[in-house]
Amino acid sequence: MHKPDPIARLFRDKSRPPLILAPMAGVTDAPFRSLASRFGADWTVSEMVASQAMIRKVERCFKISQAALGDSPLVVQIAGSDPEIMAKAAQMQVELGAEVIDINMGCPVKKIVGTGAGAALLRDERLAGQIMEKVATAVSVPVTVKIRLGWDDQNRNGQNMTRIAALSGMRAITVHGRTRAQMYSGQADWQAIAEIKNISTIPVIGNGDVTTPEQALHCWRMSGVDGLMIGRAAMGRPWIFREIAGYLEHGHPPQSLTWDERATVIVNHFHAMMAHHGPHRGHLLARKHLGWFTRGFPNGAALRDRINHTAHAEEVLELLQRFFDQQTEAA
Ligand SMILES: Cc1cc2nc3c(=O)[nH]c(=O)nc-3n(C[C@H](O)[C@H](O)[C@H](O)COP(=O)(O)O)c2cc1C
Repeated sequence: MHKPDPIARLFRDKSRPPLILAPMAGVTDAPFRSLASRFGADWTVSEMVASQAMIRKVERCFKISQAALGDSPLVVQIAGSDPEIMAKAAQMQVELGAEVIDINMGCPVKKIVGTGAGAALLRDERLAGQIMEKVATAVSVPVTVKIRLGWDDQNRNGQNMTRIAALSGMRAITVHGRTRAQMYSGQADWQAIAEIKNISTIPVIGNGDVTTPEQALHCWRMSGVDGLMIGRAAMGRPWIFREIAGYLEHGHPPQSLTWDERATVIVNHFHAMMAHHGPHRGHLLARKHLGWFTRGFPNGAALRDRINHTAHAEEVLELLQRFFDQQTEAA
């Protein structure tokens, strides 16, 4: 059966921008992508897969790009600095089921930048262009790229990178409104994102510091971007997509989740993590999600402390149940 083009499908509804879960290493595994989809994310993106490790068939790469439940196409992000290896890694991911390949040109961390990958490519436009072109011609699925505004304030080449992306066959570009030098400090510069949108011939997805429905509306209106990507605000709050969608569509978010509904989501996510990663690793990885889910609630800190000191899943479930009962009583 002929599947519709995922990019055309993503941008087909013009009444509001599509909402996209940002790729986040250590966070956007298949269980979390499923959760975000269930709560209204139109697209979700995998954690980045290191292209070198992919072509060596390192087990972890296969896990990272596993499909999630929900309507999002399988969007797999790859990172690296060698055009041939990136192209090969992209082909392997497509063979495994990737429906869109996203290229990471924004990761600021030393370990990645030190190998010439991620945001380091913002400093080498020629190589960046070669990587985009090689990957785009190597696979039959759409290829997109994710960048920052530039390396630092003196070298903001986001507009140039966007032109190169369009010329190199990228179907869309995501722009995180910070420079590499900023890492995660300061505020995302949505004016700069708007300027990139202004000159772009391909769809632009804006990203950075969208944490509320009101901010989502403001960022969309002021920049005119074609899509909004949300990262950290979805940690422990995957229903933010539903809230933003409701606000953009009807002027108000849907009713908040009740404690019972929230409790079910959290417990199910704990089980899903253990099923996906195996009981031991899944339990360890789920701790941070449980931490985010219980952030800001009375007794949340005490709960996190206890959860972090037990290796028994049954005990975690009991602790969670007690915590939920306390929240319901206090409500
Ligand atoms: C824990 C964490 C991991 C991240 N991993 C990736 C990644 O693998 N690839 C990528 O392109 N960006 C990655 N990012 C950046 C996010 O995709 C996003 O651009 C950034 O967090 C800004 O959006 P936000 O303000 O909505 O969080 C990561 C961010 C965080 C916080």
